[in-house]
Amino acid sequence: KNALPQQENDKTRKLESFVADASGESMTTNHGLKINDDQNSLKAGERGASLLEDFILREKITHFDHERIPERVVHARGSAAHGVFKVYEDMSELTRAAFLCDPGAETPVFVRFSTVAGSRGSTDLARDVRGFAVKFYTQEGNFDLVGNNMPVFFIQDALKFPDLIHAVKPEPDNEMPQAASAHDTFWDFISQLPESSHMIMWAMSDRALPRSYRMMEGFGVHTFRLVNAKGESNFVKFHWKPLLGVHAVAWDEAQNISGKDPDFHRRDLWDAIEAGAFPEWELGVQIVPEADEFKFDFDLLDPTKLIPEELVPVQRIGKMTLNRNTDNFFAETEQVAFHVGHVVPGIDFTNDPLLQGRLFSYTDTQLIRLGGPNFHEIPINRPVVPVHNNQRDGYMRQTINRGKTSYGPNGIANNDPQQVKAADGGFTSYNERIDAKKIRARSRSFFDHFSQARLFFNSQSEAEKNHIVDALSFELGKVKTVAIRERMLAVLVQIDNKLAAEVAFALGLHIPKIALEDLNNSIPADADRADYASLN
Ligand code: HEM
Repeated sequence: KNALPQQENDKTRKLESFVADASGESMTTNHGLKINDDQNSLKAGERGASLLEDFILREKITHFDHERIPERVVHARGSAAHGVFKVYEDMSELTRAAFLCDPGAETPVFVRFSTVAGSRGSTDLARDVRGFAVKFYTQEGNFDLVGNNMPVFFIQDALKFPDLIHAVKPEPDNEMPQAASAHDTFWDFISQLPESSHMIMWAMSDRALPRSYRMMEGFGVHTFRLVNAKGESNFVKFHWKPLLGVHAVAWDEAQNISGKDPDFHRRDLWDAIEAGAFPEWELGVQIVPEADEFKFDFDLLDPTKLIPEELVPVQRIGKMTLNRNTDNFFAETEQVAFHVGHVVPGIDFTNDPLLQGRLFSYTDTQLIRLGGPNFHEIPINRPVVPVHNNQRDGYMRQTINRGKTSYGPNGIANNDPQQVKAADGGFTSYNERIDAKKIRARSRSFFDHFSQARLFFNSQSEAEKNHIVDALSFELGKVKTVAIRERMLAVLVQIDNKLAAEVAFALGLHIPKIALEDLNNSIPADADRADYASLN
C-alpha cells in the first residue's frame, strides 16, 4: 500500500496502539493469568455440579453478558469508513480553520452513514433520511460535520425533536412497523405540522432511496458561520457533492433489495473500498455575507429552508476520499461519538433553534450510550492532538494525570495547562450582538411552510413527480385512520393541486377544505406571544 500521509499516520498510530493481535499468543484472563481450558467449566466430578469457584467461567460469561451497549436513540443503523480530506485553495479570507487554509495538508476523516428511524438490525433500503456524519481529525482538534442527505429538516425547533422521533419510530404499543414511515403515528404528527411540508417532499422523493452511500449528497442543513482571523463572519451552508453523481433505486427495487440483502448499502460501501474504488465527495460552501442576512424571502435561521443554488452558487472547496474500511465495527462505527458542537477556531454557530438544541443533545445522549464522561478517550474519538485540562476521574478513565494539577490557577504545580489566546489558536465564540427580551415563541419569519415545498416539487422531472405521488399514495394507503389521510391531503393541496388530486384519487378520497390557519399549528406559539404582549 502507498505510504499514508503524515496526519493519517498520526491517527492510524493512535488507533494502532490499541489494536490487539492474538496470533500465536497465549490465552489469558483479563488479568493476565494463562488459561489451560476455557471450554469446560469447573465441576465436582465429571457429571457436575458446576462450582461457583470457577472464576474463568464467571469472567468469560460476565463479559459476554455486558457486550451490548444501547443503540443510538436515532441513526442506530450505520456503516462507516476512514479517509482523508484536502482543501483545494487557501480559504483564509473566509475562515481561520487551519485545515481549510492549507492545500498541502491532508486531514484524516471518519465518516458514518446511517438511516434514522430503524434499529441497528433494520434494512438499509428503508424509505428514510440518511445521516452523513464526518469527523475531521484536524491539528486544531476534532471538527464534526453532522449532516444528512437532505438539505432541510422536519422541524424548526429542537424542542419538537422527541415528538418527531416518537411519532416516526415503531409504535409504542406493538413496536411496529420497523424502519418505515408508513404508519398512523407518523402521519398523524406530520399532518399537523405544516413546517414539515418541505422535508416531506424530499422524504417522499427518490432522495430517500439512495442507490449507494457513495452516490448521496450530504448537507450540514443549518446555517453556520465561517469566521476569519480578523474576526469577520460570513454565513455558510455546507454541502457534500458525490463525484459518482446522485442516484436512487425505485421503490419496488428497494423492497426487493430489503428482502434479499438488508445490508445492501453497507456491503456496497465495504466492497467498493476493498476493491480500491474509493468514493469521493467535494465539499461545497454557499457563502452569504453578514450584510445580506435579511436579503432572502425566508430566514437563514430556519432549518426547513435551503438557499436555492441559483441565488447563491455552491463553491467546491475541497475533496474527501474514503479509502480504508474499519478494523472493528464496534470499536469504530459503534463507539464513534459525533457532535454538532465539535468545532474548531474559524467555524461557529448561528441561532437556528434546531441547531441550538442539538448542541445540548449529543453529549447528553453519549454520556449514557458510551458509559460516562470519558468517552472522548475511546480510540476513535481521540483527537490527533494532545488533550490537557483539569477534568478528572469518572467511569472508565484511562488518562493518568500526575501531580497536583487538577485545578487552575494553580500555584503549587508548575505544569498546569494554560489558556490560549485567539491569536495563538484558542477558540473564541463569534462576538454576535444579542439585545432582546426573552420569549417562548416561533419567529414570524419562520411562518411560510409551503413555498419551498412547492419549489422542490416543481424542480422534479415528471417521472420524479410521479414517484412522489406513488410514495405518498403508498404511505398514506397504509394509514388506518381516514381523518389523518384527509388532513394530509389538505396539507398537500397547499403545495400543489395536481399532487393532492392524484394522491386523493389513489386513496379514493376527496380533498377536504381545511383553512390554512387551522392547518398552521403555530397558534400555541402565537398564544405565548400574546401573553408576552399583554404583560408588556
Ligand atoms: C444522531 C444528524 C437533528 C439528536 C445523529 C446522526 C446524524 C444526525 C448524522 C448520527 C451520527 C452518527 O453517525 O453517529 C442530524 C441532523 C439534524 C438532526 C442533520 C437536523 C438538521 C437532531 C436534533 C436532535 C438530535 C434536533 C435533538 C434535539 C440526535 C441524537 C443522536 C443523533 C441524540 C444520537 C447520537 C449518539 O447516540 O451518538 N443526528 N440530527 N438530532 N441526533 Fe441528530
